[in-house]
Amino acid sequence: MQINIPGDVLEIICRLEDKGFEAHVVGGCVRDTLLGDTPEDWDVTTSALPEDVKSIFDHTADTGIKHGTVTVVSQNTTCEVTTYRLDGEYRDGRHPEEVSFTRSLEEDLKRRDFTINAMAYSPKRGLTDLFGGRADLEKKVIRAVGDPEKRFGEDALRMMRAVRFSARLGFDIEDDTKDAIAKLSSNLGLVSNERIREELMKLLTSPNPGKLRDLYGLGLTGVFLPEFDVMMETPQNTPHHIYTVGEHTVRAVENIRPDPILRLTMLLHDVSKPKCRTTDASGRDHFKGHPVEGEKDSKNILRRLKFDNHTIKKVSRLVRFHDANPKAKKTSVRRLVAEAGRECYPWLFEIKKADISAQSMYHRKEKLSLLEVYEKYYHEIINDKDPLETGDLAISGRDLKQMGIKEGKMIGMILNDLLEMAIEDPSVNDGKKLRQIVKEEYL
Ligand code: CTP
Repeated sequence: MQINIPGDVLEIICRLEDKGFEAHVVGGCVRDTLLGDTPEDWDVTTSALPEDVKSIFDHTADTGIKHGTVTVVSQNTTCEVTTYRLDGEYRDGRHPEEVSFTRSLEEDLKRRDFTINAMAYSPKRGLTDLFGGRADLEKKVIRAVGDPEKRFGEDALRMMRAVRFSARLGFDIEDDTKDAIAKLSSNLGLVSNERIREELMKLLTSPNPGKLRDLYGLGLTGVFLPEFDVMMETPQNTPHHIYTVGEHTVRAVENIRPDPILRLTMLLHDVSKPKCRTTDASGRDHFKGHPVEGEKDSKNILRRLKFDNHTIKKVSRLVRFHDANPKAKKTSVRRLVAEAGRECYPWLFEIKKADISAQSMYHRKEKLSLLEVYEKYYHEIINDKDPLETGDLAISGRDLKQMGIKEGKMIGMILNDLLEMAIEDPSVNDGKKLRQIVKEEYL
C-alpha cells in the first residue's frame, strides 16, 4: 500500500527521518486518501520534540506549541507537525489538563477519537493501523478507539464528530460507540458553542444532513438546540402536512443544496411553529405568526451559537419571509421584493421549493406554479429597474430641500410616501411627475 504524499510534506518527513526521528502523515489525510478523496491538509506526527522541529526547519510558527504542534512553512504549503503525545486528564471534558510527549507512535494513535482517524503512514514503514481503521472504512463504520466512554469523556465534542463523520461519509455509528453517546450526551454541555457550531455546520452542509435525526435520537440536539427537539415532537394536523414539524424540517434541509445559509434557513424556518400552534374546533392545527416569531427566535438561537452577524441577519430575514405568499400580481410581488430586499428575495425561490416539497401533496402543483409566477415577475421587476427603495426614486432629499421642505423627518416621510406610490405604479417614478405630486400634496 502506497500513499502519494505531496512533495513539500514528503520533504518534511524525509528531513525529520534523516535527523534520526520517526515521522508519519496521520489522521484525516490518511483516512481521506484511503477513501480515494484528496485531503484538505496533511498533518505530520513525529517523535521529534517541538524544539527539534524548530531547529531543523528554517521557517516555522508556534501555532500550538502547548500541545506540541509547530507549523512548518514551506514554499507551497504549511504543515502542522505535532510531537507524539499522550493527553493528560480532561477534567473539563474539553481540553487535556496537560499533554506529555512520548516516543511511541502507538501511544499517540491510542488517544485519537475514531479508528478511521487513528491511522498513520510513512513511506519507510507503510501504513500503521493498530485498531482496524482500514477495515472500518470498508465496513463504513465509525467506531471509537478503545473504550468509547473514555474517548468521549476526554472530549465531549467527539460525540458530535461521530455523527458529523457519519453524515459526511454516509457511515453508520457502531453500536457500543452509539450507546456511549446516548449515555454521555449531556456532557456536550461542557463544550463551547463555537466548537459545537463548527461541527453542526459540517454536518448540515454534508451530503447526509438527515443525520440530524441521529443528533436528536442520541440526545445531542437536546443540549445545544432544544428547540429542535420540540419541533420533532410537534404534530401538524393540517392537510398541508404529513410529518411533525421536526421531520418536515429535516426533509426541507435535505431538499436544498448544501449552502450554509440555505441549510441553516431550512433548519430554522419553522422553529417557532410549536409555540404558535393552535388547534381549532375541527381539530385542525394553525401556526399563525410563526414567521415573525421565527425571525426573532432564529436570531436568538444563532446568537447563542455564536454565528457571525452576516449569517444571523440573512438567515433570520429569510425565516421571516419564507412563508410570504403575495397575490399573483406584479404589484404584490414588487411590494414584497421591496420589503424583503432585492438581494434577499431570490433566495426565497429555492427556500420555498424545498419547503413545499417537504409538505403533503395537497395543492403542491398550484403552490409550485405560483412560485414560477413570482420568479417571472421578480426578473421583470429587476430588469425594468422598478423602484424598490427611496434611493431608486427620481427625486432626492436634496431636491425636496430645494423645493422648500426643510425638516429632515418630513423629507423622510415624503420620500417613503412617494416610494409607496412608485411601487404601486412605477410609471410615477419620473422627476417631473414626482415634483408635481410634492407641490400638490405637501407644499
Ligand atoms: N482528533 C481527535 N479528537 C478530536 C479532534 C481530533 O482524536 N476531538 C484527532 C483525529 O485523529 C483527527 C485528527 O486529530 O483525525 C485531526 O483532527 P481534525 O483536523 O479536527 O479532523 P480531521 O480528521 O482532519 O477531519 P476534518 O478535516 O474533516 O475535520
